[in-house]
Amino acid sequence: MRVLLVGASGQLGFEVKRQMQAGFTLMLPSSRQLDIRSAEQVAKALRELKPDLIINAAAFTAVDQAEQEPEQAFAVNERGVKHLAQSNLPIVHLSTDYVFNGELQRPYREEDKPAPLNSYGQSKLAGEKALTAVNPRHLILRTGGLFGVHGNNFVKAILYKAQNRQLLTVVNDQFSTPTPAPALAKAIGQLAKHYREQAKLPWGIYHFGGQPAVSWYEFAVTIAEQALILGLLKQRPEIIAIKSADYPGAVCRPRYSALDSGLLQRSLGLSPPDWRDGLRQMLAQLA
Ligand SMILES: NC(=O)c1ccc[n+]([C@@H]2O[C@H](COP(=O)([O-])OP(=O)(O)OC[C@H]3O[C@@H](n4cnc5c(N)ncnc54)[C@H](OP(=O)(O)O)[C@@H]3O)[C@@H](O)[C@H]2O)c1
Repeated sequence: MRVLLVGASGQLGFEVKRQMQAGFTLMLPSSRQLDIRSAEQVAKALRELKPDLIINAAAFTAVDQAEQEPEQAFAVNERGVKHLAQSNLPIVHLSTDYVFNGELQRPYREEDKPAPLNSYGQSKLAGEKALTAVNPRHLILRTGGLFGVHGNNFVKAILYKAQNRQLLTVVNDQFSTPTPAPALAKAIGQLAKHYREQAKLPWGIYHFGGQPAVSWYEFAVTIAEQALILGLLKQRPEIIAIKSADYPGAVCRPRYSALDSGLLQRSLGLSPPDWRDGLRQMLAQLA
């Protein structure tokens, strides 16, 4: 089966590539070779590459920059997705917990109403709508707080600051379900296998977030504890819990954007990972 992976150089794309190297003919154009903002480039690439399945891990993911330059975020996250969707090829697409406003106080389910608080979330929701409007063979995976050895993420930022003895202040009133990128990549590989074997998938929107829900502060404390055990840190850093309101100029983020991943588990037997296992595995690779 020929699989076009868009965004292969990104944090998730790197892990998907690693997962799917065996058993699939993977096509991995760079963003220079295939810029999804261009309808012509997308049409040409699809004509030439003739994929059986598209996995779209490409996105404009810089949340702060998206607030300054929303047009750039929408160009990739909405129009780029629309260009891929118009092919009518089956597509596995990634979206985000930031489509929600975080006011629900329980993990979000697929049927909960999205109401994004920032431009990044708005652009990702617009992408979901662009895809679902034109292409019925879509499987959208919403995830949150991705972390892995490749790329920039919260785990690496905490580790770097702790190693350089910088002051660590982390919000304790925002909660999410951090997700190990390798576990998500494995689930995507299993979806592709399912499609290869059965020529169909239970199309729709699904959530996939690491368990259990945690505040960014607790997550940072666990990162530091694990890093100490593995010798990545020589001494315990001081981590100060702060409130989101202490960051007056920051981009608005959801308070509680944990994802309930039960539907994917019930529909396809894909269990959400425990993020603590993923964290140990990631740090062990860095040690
Ligand atoms: N990171 C998170 O915490 C998080 C949380 C929730 C959801 N998600 C979603 O998960 C998916 C993967 O995120 P990630 O963290 O792996 O992202 P990432 O590391 O920022 O990687 C983004 C990828 O998209 C590519 N890309 C950007 N603009 C493009 C364009 N115009 N045409 C083609 N490719 C383009 C980049 O290529 P270059 O490297 O060449 O620029 C890169 O390969 C995204 O859909 C994101 O919205 C991420």
